[in-house]
Amino acid sequence: MAIHEIQHPLIRHKLGLMRRADLSTKNFREMSQEIAALLTYEATKDLPLESTTIEGWCGEVNVEKIAGKKVTVVPILRAGIGMLDGVLSLIPGAKVSVIGIARNEETFEAQTYLERLVGELDQRFALIIDPMLATGGSMVATIDLLKKAGCKTIRALVLVAAPEGIRTVQNAHPDVEIYTASIDSHLDENGYIVPGLGDAGDRIFGTR
Ligand code: PRP
Ligand code: URA
Repeated sequence: MAIHEIQHPLIRHKLGLMRRADLSTKNFREMSQEIAALLTYEATKDLPLESTTIEGWCGEVNVEKIAGKKVTVVPILRAGIGMLDGVLSLIPGAKVSVIGIARNEETFEAQTYLERLVGELDQRFALIIDPMLATGGSMVATIDLLKKAGCKTIRALVLVAAPEGIRTVQNAHPDVEIYTASIDSHLDENGYIVPGLGDAGDRIFGTR
């Protein structure tokens, strides 16, 4: 299954609050980070572990640790930054790869303006973060970039997903699992998710 709509009551409650048009920038930001942390918990449930021996208080102890190279978190600028601290609260050692993409508001085409990827991506688990999956153009462009750089295991966390965007990502990249707080109804004629959250970047950065 490539799409996971997480039913946790804390997520349902917080997302309900985020849909309020009169929610302050401060509260919108805080809840974006909180839901991002809860989605991170779900999306990392099957990360591979390896055994290691450490010196404990009573001598040698076998413990487990996450196997392999550090995870890379990939915020899609700008709005993805609004989820970054939430993800890092659970994976504080993660490396951050930044992708700058803006959607052309007339054509809905995704235009890449920045690419700062960490090294050894072929050995890292990548977690893309963006509050909104609308047409799917920005997400597909990001996955294309990561795969071109050698990334093999990619998951995406989005606060809200439209069925149109889910289909587009699944058709282009069926191996990428998407974790979301909500699969919403549809896109309107301006490419906005209904009921959605409005313009997530503007609400996070206070530019609306
Ligand atoms: C928004 C959102 C996604 C994209 C989704 O960003 O954060 O990145 O639109 O739309 P899509 O699925 O149709 O590509 P936007 O382009 O508004 O830029 P911003 O984050 O800088 O505000
Ligand atoms: N980008 C947003 O911020 N919101 C939408 O509903 C669609 C794209």
